[in-house]
Amino acid sequence: MPELPVPTDGTSIKTAPSAEAQKGSTTDTGAPAPSDRNSLSVGADGPIVLHDVHFLNQMAHFNRERTPERNVHAKGSGAFGVFETTEDVTAYTKAGLFQPGVKTEMLARFSTVAGEQGSPDTWRDPRGFALKFYTDEGNYDLVGNNTPVFFIRDTMKFPHFIRSQKRRGGSGLRDNNMQWDFWSLNPESAHQVTYLMGDRGIPSSYRKMNGYGSHTYMWVNEAGEKFWVKYHFHSDQGVEGLTDADATRIAGEDADFHRRDLFEAIDRGEFPSWTLSMQIMPYEQARDYHLNPFDLTKIWPHREFPLIKVGTMTLNRNPENFFAQIEQAAFEPSALVPGIGFSPDKMLLGRAFAYADTHRHRIGANYLQLPVNRPHVELNTYTQDGPMAYDHRGDDPVYAPNSFGRGYADNVGEVDPGWEADGAMVRQAYTLRPDDDDFSQAGALVRDVWNDQQRAAFVKTVAGHLLGGVKGDVLDRAFAYWKSVDPVTGAQIEALVRKDPDLGAPGAQPDAAKADASDPIIEENTH
Ligand code: HEM
Repeated sequence: MPELPVPTDGTSIKTAPSAEAQKGSTTDTGAPAPSDRNSLSVGADGPIVLHDVHFLNQMAHFNRERTPERNVHAKGSGAFGVFETTEDVTAYTKAGLFQPGVKTEMLARFSTVAGEQGSPDTWRDPRGFALKFYTDEGNYDLVGNNTPVFFIRDTMKFPHFIRSQKRRGGSGLRDNNMQWDFWSLNPESAHQVTYLMGDRGIPSSYRKMNGYGSHTYMWVNEAGEKFWVKYHFHSDQGVEGLTDADATRIAGEDADFHRRDLFEAIDRGEFPSWTLSMQIMPYEQARDYHLNPFDLTKIWPHREFPLIKVGTMTLNRNPENFFAQIEQAAFEPSALVPGIGFSPDKMLLGRAFAYADTHRHRIGANYLQLPVNRPHVELNTYTQDGPMAYDHRGDDPVYAPNSFGRGYADNVGEVDPGWEADGAMVRQAYTLRPDDDDFSQAGALVRDVWNDQQRAAFVKTVAGHLLGGVKGDVLDRAFAYWKSVDPVTGAQIEALVRKDPDLGAPGAQPDAAKADASDPIIEENTH
């Protein structure tokens, strides 16, 4: 064995050289590196010199090691896996990945929304449920959450909503008053906030939460028939939430609790899986359905649209490198494949722009050339050049049409995942339909889905949140908001916050407001 080198940096640690160490390190341009321990200096006690290019390169690269974190969903974890279509849904879609028996490689990334990269995994927040399917027809990305609804219904409000949930400009602190100011001024948030403050508001593990496409999408079958659809991924591990007390304790003990849980489970060979089922609405039915089927703050009752099973997603491979494969993963709801389309959901249509745009900023214009994002099909695109371009088409024509026979045929024809639209230009999120109010579905969740224990925990959670700095008009509006969701629990919340038990004397749930509580479909649906 060769003599171990004596460290010249004052340490006396000697370690046996590994096979890697025997190879000798190189500079980034491939020459033998002079040293990874000491910079070059004029005498051992003198200044370092500017032409120590190996040091300069190390330092300069280190200074550029981070990409900006995602503006939302910054803290996340991911794994690779496979989606297998086990059922026959060809009546509804011609998408290759949903043909019977097809297995498709995929990537999943789960995340919290408002926290930064180092924030605790167990903060109360919706969880992102982002999926990338590397299909034979190109990438299909379904970028959903662990909730079937969302806080707002117009894409214009998204930046405002997120700013209200993040940090104050002055103090740099998060602020419950600001959060409730936004929520109470935007009552369409009630359904999602109810969900968030309920017992599924903090999952115990990424493996034990459901995922939803949340939006309404379009499916198109081989015959060109169209359907409106909603995606439901039910966890085969079951669904489990954390109490506030446990979540707070875990946040202190292990901020990476959910990341560790997912990584270690897969490492042990315990591969988490989810069953995909769809709700499917015939295309024409959307026209006069009693609530707007494209409004992201609403669910579709399962009674009317029962779940239709499609297949199973299994996560079975951890990333080899977190930065390359998870941090640089770029999900975009605009990545669709034939047989799947958008819908008139104004949120979805806004998202069709937002993601690819932020990837160009966060990762770079050629983010799709990175291995984790690159489609697993041949690309015949004229997109070219730009920073860090790696793929190229040699000297082929860079424009279409061209007369050299080396362009690609383009598919001019019917736009099959489209829909009819007409009308004057307005700024309005949908025409109101009979059941389009902001509170009934939230109220049904509180009254008809939850039991007494869940309702009591909910009252405590909301009151605790309000006691965390919500004041004045905002507090008054928050009480009104909850009384609109459900008069009884709303009064109980106010009593707890104002420390006045008389305000929330337990009363019976008003019968008139009750839906059919015995209908298991409501339970399934609202969750
Ligand atoms: C991430 C915008 C609504 C789920 C992001 C990112 C942006 C964004 C800019 C950061 C992406 C990145 O840097 O990689 C928007 C806009 C929305 C919207 C403008 C509304 C108009 C939603 C909704 C859902 C959702 C409704 C779920 C149903 C996600 C998820 C991620 C994400 C899961 C993280 C993706 C990942 O793991 O990389 N969103 N978002 N977003 N968003 Fe949205």
